[in-house]
Amino acid sequence: MQSLLKFITCGSVDDGKSTLIGHMLYDAKLIFADQEKALELESKVGSAGGEIDYSLLLDGLMAEREQGITIDVAYRYFTTENRSFIVADTPGHEEYTRNMAVGASFADLAIILLDVTKGVLVQTKRHTRICALMGIKSVVYAVNKMDLANYDESAFKNIRREIKKMTAEYDFETEYIIPVSATQGDNITKASDRMPWFRGDTLLQYLEQVDVSDKTDQTGFALPVQRVSRPDHNFRGFQGQIEVGQIAVGDEITALPSGETACVKSILNMNQSVDRAYKGQAVTIQLDKEVDVSRGCMLCRDVNLQVGKLFSSKLLWMDDSRLVAGKSYYLKIGTKMVPAVVMNIKSKIDVNEGTHVSADHIYKNEIAICDISCQDQIVYDLFEHHKELGGFILIDRVTHMTSACGVVEHSLRREENLQWHNMDVTRELRAERLNQTPKTIWMTGLSGSGKSTLVNALEKRLFMDGKHTMLLDGDNVRMGLNKNLGFKEQDRIENIRRVSEVAKLMNDAGLIVLTSFISPFAADRRRAKRIIGEDNFVEIYVSTPLEECEKRDVKGLYKKARNGEIPNFSGVSSPYEVPENPDITIDTTGKSVEECVDFIMEQLEKE
Ligand code: ADX
Repeated sequence: MQSLLKFITCGSVDDGKSTLIGHMLYDAKLIFADQEKALELESKVGSAGGEIDYSLLLDGLMAEREQGITIDVAYRYFTTENRSFIVADTPGHEEYTRNMAVGASFADLAIILLDVTKGVLVQTKRHTRICALMGIKSVVYAVNKMDLANYDESAFKNIRREIKKMTAEYDFETEYIIPVSATQGDNITKASDRMPWFRGDTLLQYLEQVDVSDKTDQTGFALPVQRVSRPDHNFRGFQGQIEVGQIAVGDEITALPSGETACVKSILNMNQSVDRAYKGQAVTIQLDKEVDVSRGCMLCRDVNLQVGKLFSSKLLWMDDSRLVAGKSYYLKIGTKMVPAVVMNIKSKIDVNEGTHVSADHIYKNEIAICDISCQDQIVYDLFEHHKELGGFILIDRVTHMTSACGVVEHSLRREENLQWHNMDVTRELRAERLNQTPKTIWMTGLSGSGKSTLVNALEKRLFMDGKHTMLLDGDNVRMGLNKNLGFKEQDRIENIRRVSEVAKLMNDAGLIVLTSFISPFAADRRRAKRIIGEDNFVEIYVSTPLEECEKRDVKGLYKKARNGEIPNFSGVSSPYEVPENPDITIDTTGKSVEECVDFIMEQLEKE
């Protein structure tokens, strides 16, 4: 069987990626005659001054031609007598690193182009690092534009030395460095007689025979369940693609995370019943008994998979907005999608040196080591064991854009050795004793909006009514429990997380909790609601406008903030995200405290 090679091309903008592949297709007569003619015609008016511009062959997208650069991942399929190929031509512009990473995640091999007149650039290092991160084990460095260096052997050798120095830190299985001229065709499909000093294979020869077969142990079996198929009462099948090993009818499998076992009763592949199925095949598996399996679960056999919520990862940040620890995303790993939080950024990796430097946020195109905590258990493996089961993406919860792609480096067992104990005196019993329904009344609003005053008066009213209450106020809590936190984004996230956990504990104790925190970020308020429990959470937005807060300026902080004496001041130099759907909204402008409390009490009673 002809094997398939999936590869990507990467390099800086003008390194000649499209020309290189275009020339390969042209030489190998892999294009149709009329396409060839069109190419010649078009080149007459194109950029190569009458000569054939091979890049036109690949530059399929109009916009790409207009700008003269490659702007998306373009997949192309071609085949020679010896092998079939799929190539993802990825852009060289730094802002398109995301597409390169997407291309790399699908490829077995990367061709990284360099310009002989420029040598190893930051971009070359970045691309090499991303390829390694995405699990590529075979790399080819095509040192292009040899014609511009008079096919000089020493110019090539100098660059080869630089490349070897750069790749020493990676464990690529195969690495090939070749001098080429993409425009002239030297060493693309024909050995160059202008570089007799180079005796290696041409690029195409090399690609036709390079061994990229998976060297990791492919025993066992794993199938992430994509869909549960239930066409009628008699049939229940689990559908998905086999990511590891193989499976046969009669084999015993384990379903994770439940841990239940069952035997394979039947296997369908392309609607045909088969006895055995292999990695890469999409199948429907029927088991001999009912097990607890839904989308995102894993069927497996003889593989040591991880089930947990916490792991350490390496990720490539691809979002325009920076990554800040504490933020919540959707994590998609295999067929499972769960809410997850990037708990802390342990370090970021310098693209040039590969060194780890400390960072509390990272920007687009940077690589970082982070701990991630998922809301539910996921089934996965370390990326180094099984690439297919250890790669994930993070998705922005609002825009639904892919914010990062990453790999699982190791599991964190902190939580695994802990066990939740159910105690005899329950939350319900405590609440019953106090004869009240515990709630958290969460006030959000700008500094000076009147939160503290209101919450104080409201607690007094509830207390007089015989309620058992507790008040958590921003300034006060920041002088004790949260003394170590400031006002940067990640500190505010942590401030609100801790307060939410404390409010929950106090609700567990049976108390009615009132809070007064700016809590400027919608995502944090959502998380507070989740921690405290939807039914126990009442959100009150104190909507006093900024101008009014600033006019009052009780603590004199707005004045200082405007003078630049307080950085990151909410409403001035740090955002306040207005609640979209608060339970109660109150603007204190022109109202007495008593009027405001009456209004809130009325609304609370309605709740
Ligand atoms: S939050 O954003 O993390 O929810 P929190 O409510 O705890 O803030 O604390 C806000 C209080 O801290 C303000 O009422 C004000 O007195 C004080 N403060 C000091 N610096 C800042 C700042 N940069 N931004 C907002 N409030 C600040």
